[in-house]
Amino acid sequence: MVYPIVMYGDAVLRKRAEDIKKGTDMTALVADMFETMYAAHGIGLAAPQIGKSVRLFVVDGTTLEDEPDLHDFKMPFINPVILDEDGEEWEMEEGCLSIPNIREDVTRPERITLRYFDVNWNEHTHVFDGMKARIIQHEYDHLEGKLFIDYLSPLKKRMLKGKLANISKGDVDTEYRIAAPLKK
Ligand code: NI
Repeated sequence: MVYPIVMYGDAVLRKRAEDIKKGTDMTALVADMFETMYAAHGIGLAAPQIGKSVRLFVVDGTTLEDEPDLHDFKMPFINPVILDEDGEEWEMEEGCLSIPNIREDVTRPERITLRYFDVNWNEHTHVFDGMKARIIQHEYDHLEGKLFIDYLSPLKKRMLKGKLANISKGDVDTEYRIAAPLKK
């Protein structure tokens, strides 16, 4: 099932998402998350973006041809915890399915140590760096109620104010179905 993507301005994107009870059957929700992400041509999607305030996100970077590093980077992350972030800070342009048509440079540390569960509730602890870390950090932020625009300077934020207001009203062009909080 393809869900509409929740737009900027919805309170669910600002809530800290809840842990999922260990052992819960995740098969259907994870499948829906992948389906929704593919329908929107995203490389990452967090559960709050489909209106579910739970600690789950999915990634698939395998289709990025110029990122051979990501050829096996397709998986769900359940109840993830960033145990450590280190390495040099680096800047990269980010976008978000919940904030369409806005892309801005964001600075983040290059490496993370992440503990998470897979869909069978096996626990993993793994170090990710580069693009993998970047995608995870962005999606993980969604579970904390944080968005990439929060990292921008006050000036940049002011410049985006009008666009963001329009997104909240659903006044934005997307090729995927959206749910905008202030749509009349
Ligand atoms: Ni996002």
